[in-house]
Amino acid sequence: MEDLHELLLRNARWAERIVEADPQFFKRLVSQQNPEYLWIGCSDSRVPANEIVDLQPGELFVHRNVGNVVAHSDVNAQSVIQFALEVLNVRHIMVVGHYRCSGVHAALHRQPLGGVADAWLSHIREVADQHDELLDAEPLEHRREALLCELNVLEQALNVCHSVPVRNAWSRGQPLTVHGWIYRLGDGRLRHSGLSVSNTRQLDGLRHKAVETIVRMRRAYYAQGQTMPSR
Ligand code: CO
Repeated sequence: MEDLHELLLRNARWAERIVEADPQFFKRLVSQQNPEYLWIGCSDSRVPANEIVDLQPGELFVHRNVGNVVAHSDVNAQSVIQFALEVLNVRHIMVVGHYRCSGVHAALHRQPLGGVADAWLSHIREVADQHDELLDAEPLEHRREALLCELNVLEQALNVCHSVPVRNAWSRGQPLTVHGWIYRLGDGRLRHSGLSVSNTRQLDGLRHKAVETIVRMRRAYYAQGQTMPSR
């Protein structure tokens, strides 16, 4: 309880600091939330959504789970996407993975965690199975894991594109772009992972092109002798 008391004190000091800088801040937030973005990221404590993109409360709608998975059978993720599009009218959905993701690591190494965690990680194992030739061609373990982090972003972002709420939004002509991003713990930087989609036509052949982009970028970095982000 004492530990939690510290958190409550921190909260009080945080709220005071905000009001000091902007006395109307919370009053404005009460009346509306108007985020332009839906962030779908990993639950990892090192990847906090608002802080990374330096946005205030009210500016980012957020859904996080282990391994930034977007499964069609997951009513939680699907309803977040629907609410973001139909109530909040967000204009961008970004699926944000990160290197050194424990979920990706466990899925790649088929580590049994037991219980529902294994069922959850099977979504990432499916991504690994789908791209097994590409992954098998990468001899170094940390590179293979980094590659799966990128491929997982791609596949989960494609799942967003194929979700019912997103397809409905595009068929209504609602402006919406779905992005795949990846975060590097080692330097705090986000970067594109080869996917950005604004309508259903762009989905034709997209997986193939996006995978080629990922592979080309990795080859180019390695050829230059640079350390490709993997951490
Ligand atoms: Co993670």
